[in-house]
Amino acid sequence: MTLTEPMTPEMTRTEPPTQTEHPRVAVPWWQSAVVYQIYARSFADSNGDGIGDLEGIRSRLHYLHDLGVDAVWLTPCYPSPQRDHGYDVADYFAIEPDYGDLESFDRLVSDARALGIRVLMDVVPNHCSSQHPWFQQALADRPGSRARARFYFRDGKGENGNEPPNNWLAWFGGPAWSRIVEPDGSPGQWYLHLFTPWQPDLNWDNDDVAEQFDDMLTFWFDRGVEGFRVDAVSVVGKTPGLPDTPPPPPDARVTDRALHNPHVQFRPEGHAPWLRWRRLTDAYTAAHPDRPVFFVAEAYSPGRPDRVLEYLRGDKFHQVFSFDLLLAQWTSEQFHQAITDSINELASQHVPLVWTLNNHDAQRSVTRYGRDDATDPARFSGNNLINSDSPVDLGLGTRRARAAALLMLALPGAAYLYQGEELGLHEHLTIPPEARQDPIFIATDGDELGRDGCRVPMPWTTTDDGSYGFSPPGAASPPWLPQPHGWGASSAEAAAADPGSVLTMYRGAIATRRELLGAVAAAEFGFIDTPPGMVGFRNGPVAVFVNFMAEAMAIPAGHGTRVVLTSLGGHTDASVLPGDTAIWLA
Ligand code: GLC
Ligand code: CA
Repeated sequence: MTLTEPMTPEMTRTEPPTQTEHPRVAVPWWQSAVVYQIYARSFADSNGDGIGDLEGIRSRLHYLHDLGVDAVWLTPCYPSPQRDHGYDVADYFAIEPDYGDLESFDRLVSDARALGIRVLMDVVPNHCSSQHPWFQQALADRPGSRARARFYFRDGKGENGNEPPNNWLAWFGGPAWSRIVEPDGSPGQWYLHLFTPWQPDLNWDNDDVAEQFDDMLTFWFDRGVEGFRVDAVSVVGKTPGLPDTPPPPPDARVTDRALHNPHVQFRPEGHAPWLRWRRLTDAYTAAHPDRPVFFVAEAYSPGRPDRVLEYLRGDKFHQVFSFDLLLAQWTSEQFHQAITDSINELASQHVPLVWTLNNHDAQRSVTRYGRDDATDPARFSGNNLINSDSPVDLGLGTRRARAAALLMLALPGAAYLYQGEELGLHEHLTIPPEARQDPIFIATDGDELGRDGCRVPMPWTTTDDGSYGFSPPGAASPPWLPQPHGWGASSAEAAAADPGSVLTMYRGAIATRRELLGAVAAAEFGFIDTPPGMVGFRNGPVAVFVNFMAEAMAIPAGHGTRVVLTSLGGHTDASVLPGDTAIWLA
């Protein structure tokens, strides 16, 4: 199915006046958008070096237009040594040479805009790359210098300062401090890095830091960027004095340990930047009324939407991801809870919601829901990086992932897709160890697989030409991460030709969503009473039911007789719902 209605390039939608004749309220486009996350390194390679690039993205814009998305979010495309694949930024004002340059970026923005697709970028405020000129300057300068004040440099403890300033651990393993060698060759101070040693944390109490990001945001807004996904906001701001943390539970996995440190997460000290950023975007939009630029923040806070609300309240971020949906096991209770929490805590405060089921940090939904223990509520870890290693049934996982997608696309708010989920791609679990690149895999000596498996280059063509169409024919280099055997069966080419494919379902659902749920502010949400194992809700004109059980269940009567969409091809009965299936009724 292709999008039959014309694209609507207008920037805002307008609510009809209410009976009391309030002035018309313009609802920014991003409140109900479908946004497609592009992992730039893995989307499409135009020049055969095995690495995705901006020209590759530009060459595939028609695919995204046919899918019907409103915008793309590009993961970091700035110059970077790629120690954390772009989340280690060496220059906030340029494009990674492997991906292109500012001219190719401008071409991409302008071609996307011509197709009605807006471009969002990714901003990383907590840390930069150790190759950033600021950090290099800090290494060259003395303790106490202006250059060091932009980071967290401290003297070590113990004899000769041989021990780190405190006991904090890094997210991806090891201590959160590394010691430098002073310019005179003596063992020197330590600097804080909550992720890898190549990602020094920036000190947001420092004016240089705040001013650089003001300049950066404006620089990209002026190039046509309509908003930013904001990386790792909950770790900005640390307890003053940087006190020791109570130790994590002894059996905690590596990527779980740092989560127990109360001094580096959800700190009240960390909110000033977001107030400043909001003032900046408000002023920008006031000066460019057709450009309601915005932020969507990344802050995982399982089961604690109240903590997330702090990032929105009082004019900070515009939106924040409701990640509990992505974290949920395949149970009606956990999905119901994830939706309820966000509706009660965020939507009731008039915060426009943002849902997602996949991203570049989580195992793909097809694999998660296909696990043997996917329905075991006790397996909920609350950490997107920690996964079950029980066997996977990909057929079952695909069926459930289709149902989850139809659920998400019917919820009020915005929906963010991650490249390849519309093809039903599964996690590549068998990448050979020597080919893995994620710092999590490297730092844990392979104890944790890390995130490479969801970052494998996209399959575009059915035939195995060495990269399934990711790179041009005769490419000099293989894809930067190996693709699984038979990846062509999951390709865009194969899916486009198949009316029963996941891609066909996504295209249909996005078009139907636009048609029926487009005016999100007018949509009314309410849960429908359902038997255990089923979730039901109404959003505007649509009633949605999802059966999380294996057996078919009767659909509660009185909520619609017309089957608008189902996740199971060929199902047309509005009174019964097969197992692991979703349905939209009108
Ligand atoms: C965010 C990103 C992740 C990155 C980390 C450090 O969680 O999504 O990919 O590794 O921040 O920047
Ligand atoms: Ca390339």
